[in-house]
Amino acid sequence: MARPEELPVPIYKSLDPVYGTGSQLEEAELRFHNLKAKFTEFFGQAPDVYARSPGRVNLIGEHIDYEGYSVLPMAIRQDTIVAIRKVEGEKILRIGNVNSDKFSMCTYPADPDQEIDLKNHRWGHYFLCGYKGFYEYAKLKGIDVGDTVGLEVVVDGIVPTGSGLSSSAAFVCSSTIAIMAVMGASFAKKELAQLACECERHIGTQSGGMDQAISVMAQSGLAALIDFNPIRATEVQLPAGGTFVIAHSLAESQKAVTAATNYNNRVVECRLASIVLGIKLGMNPEEAVSKVKTLSDVEGLCVAFSGTNGSSDPILAVKEFLKEEPYSVEDIEAIVNEKLQSIFSESPSSLDVLRAAKDFKLHQRAAHVYSEARRVYAFKDAVLAASSEEDTLKKLGDLMNESHYSCSVLYECSCPELEELVKICRDNSALGARLTGAGWGGCAVALVKENIVPQFILNLKEQFYQSRIDKGVIEKSNLGAYIFASKPSSGAAIIKL
Ligand code: GLA
Repeated sequence: MARPEELPVPIYKSLDPVYGTGSQLEEAELRFHNLKAKFTEFFGQAPDVYARSPGRVNLIGEHIDYEGYSVLPMAIRQDTIVAIRKVEGEKILRIGNVNSDKFSMCTYPADPDQEIDLKNHRWGHYFLCGYKGFYEYAKLKGIDVGDTVGLEVVVDGIVPTGSGLSSSAAFVCSSTIAIMAVMGASFAKKELAQLACECERHIGTQSGGMDQAISVMAQSGLAALIDFNPIRATEVQLPAGGTFVIAHSLAESQKAVTAATNYNNRVVECRLASIVLGIKLGMNPEEAVSKVKTLSDVEGLCVAFSGTNGSSDPILAVKEFLKEEPYSVEDIEAIVNEKLQSIFSESPSSLDVLRAAKDFKLHQRAAHVYSEARRVYAFKDAVLAASSEEDTLKKLGDLMNESHYSCSVLYECSCPELEELVKICRDNSALGARLTGAGWGGCAVALVKENIVPQFILNLKEQFYQSRIDKGVIEKSNLGAYIFASKPSSGAAIIKL
């Protein structure tokens, strides 16, 4: 039997295989009805096809996908739906939104080679990422997709933006899949996950592939262990007695806008840490700069060093060879024997990082990555172990707490609002709680015993959200969008109604 990532994105003729039954199905029926009405209002005709792709919550494995390490997320119910129609003759992309008051129509030429104007950020740019990605990949594979055509598009996204729940991946994946479907092409899920990851980088963040991989490959009722190089998803059945509650810190996490000081900064620090480790562990500087891209590339050298000290933990090498004090540019250049500007000369977004950074915390970032990578496997092993449910849930919660500590103290990707929220979760009997996604705002995820979920949510409303409602930060009627329990949802789908 083919592995799930080898299969194409499923095509359905009705909504129930994706949205199940009950209120979720009813909500979806209403959304599709409104989407079609909006499409007809904008363009005078119904769409040819729809594609949907969900957001995700990462349970454990933060900021390690771009270092080559496995992560363990699950898809959430909130998704983005893209309705699309091919228009022969007119070479324009028209991208509308059901929420047209907030997201006005974006138009672009139907030219896959156009540059995305990063200085003028527009919401439609995420569609353009998928558009460019589709054509780049088709060209690479030698697939003839004919002359470029015009496209009419309407988007309906309900993954909250800036929440760390991958609204951008849901948008890019659903766009890419909609374009693929309307152009009559079919790629395997793993190809789509890879291509959506690469094309989202057109927006300027050097993201790893977690968000797109889970959005495309998720299966209902299951979390997944996602491996990279090559991309692969292994299902993880979570223990029934625990529920993951997602709660927004109400601090917006703007990954693309803050990339130079936050997200991309950490990617650059990890690269520098890995080059310095490579050199300290015997590589010559030139070889290290040209060959070492990620901390996983030098893990073998670190483990070999640790082995001489009776351990298999790469962190021993971090402790020995990377000083705890921040490194200045000059410190690093003296070790690598090259200007940092020249190491990163091919990557404009990394050069932005160098311009913005004063110093680099190599020890702390490497210690986070190596320890977090191990926690992912410990989490998976705990799920598979034949322990009592009670013990398993406790172990998972402990690992989530350790992950949060590492993100907060070593990787410094938390923020005061997330710290407050995580503490309140734990004070209210969460077995574990941590920030999820890139951090610097966005959501926390808490593991809570199934039987106390309603009370837990009520307590958080009182202890975290009420003061924000009183101050007018959010409206009480919207609270359900900021705190909710989530079961693992299904991945991307093409829908032909
Ligand atoms: C963002 C990125 C992912 C991943 C997380 C942090 O969501 O898109 O690739 O790096 O941050 O774990």
